[in-house]
Amino acid sequence: MLKLEGIAANYGKVQALRSVSLEVETGQIVTIIGANGAGKTTTFKTISGLVRPVAGRLEFEGHNLANLAPEKIVELGIIHVPEGRRLFPGLSVLDNLLLGATSRHKKNQKWRAEAAEDLEKVYKIFPALKLLAKRLSWTLSGGEQQMCAIGRGLMARPRLLMLDEPSLGLAPVLVQEVFRTIVEINRQGMTVLLNEQNARQALAIASRGYVLETGTMVLSGEARGLLNNEQIKRAYLGSAMKIKDPDLAEVVENSTRKIPTPGE
Ligand SMILES: Nc1ncnc2c1ncn2[C@@H]1O[C@H](COP(=O)(O)OP(=O)(O)OP(=O)(O)O)[C@@H](O)[C@H]1O
Ligand SMILES: [Mg+2]
Repeated sequence: MLKLEGIAANYGKVQALRSVSLEVETGQIVTIIGANGAGKTTTFKTISGLVRPVAGRLEFEGHNLANLAPEKIVELGIIHVPEGRRLFPGLSVLDNLLLGATSRHKKNQKWRAEAAEDLEKVYKIFPALKLLAKRLSWTLSGGEQQMCAIGRGLMARPRLLMLDEPSLGLAPVLVQEVFRTIVEINRQGMTVLLNEQNARQALAIASRGYVLETGTMVLSGEARGLLNNEQIKRAYLGSAMKIKDPDLAEVVENSTRKIPTPGE
């Protein structure tokens, strides 16, 4: 469905992507994991036409994306839900959602009826949004804003939904909720490309994973395999670290030792 080969991209003199190759097949959840500044967002921006690649190939269902305007890329069905939600704060939740449908209305007389149908589908996935429909979006919590941003993306009837760090800044219980929702949306047939720093959760729901480091894809494979990969465990999954300094190791050991409760 989507194929990137050797993509390089710059911001002026800053080389953000050196060599990014990846593939997404219809129906999959594919995740890109990587630390701050690795190039995850730039990869998304390159796919959606907001940043132009200086090298490499970029193909979606037989279309070369390299010279297409962002709105044309949206029309092909690639929908980018940006990092930090980027809702229109002074608009209601309903208006933010409807804005997602506007990419289709130019060509389609029936867009209002279709948008009403899609709105019901979005409300089914996120029942809270129906109750919040009239609220201005800036008054929403982080989790509610994320639901609204994903809902707005779904209103465009994506063929490929790209989610840039949807769990960022959310409380653990909401993080779970976001990942559960992504799985549900995928089960309904949506192909998802997911940028995440929360590598464990992302690999747990994805079929394939790619590891991005300073603009280069350094590793890729079946998500389950990556979850068990020692290199990934050390770098991204927060497994117990070996502390070399014996004094420091003792301090850490004591600080994590169970404090006995009275009577024990
Ligand atoms: N608008 C910009 N102008 C100049 N440099 C930028 C710009 N946006 C990103 N960069 C640089 O490009 C590199 C990749 O950034 P990018 O935002 O793609 O990383 P990221 O993996 O999404 O990081 P994060 O996890 O922090 O969102 C970084 O070195 C960053 O400083
Ligand atoms: Mg980013």
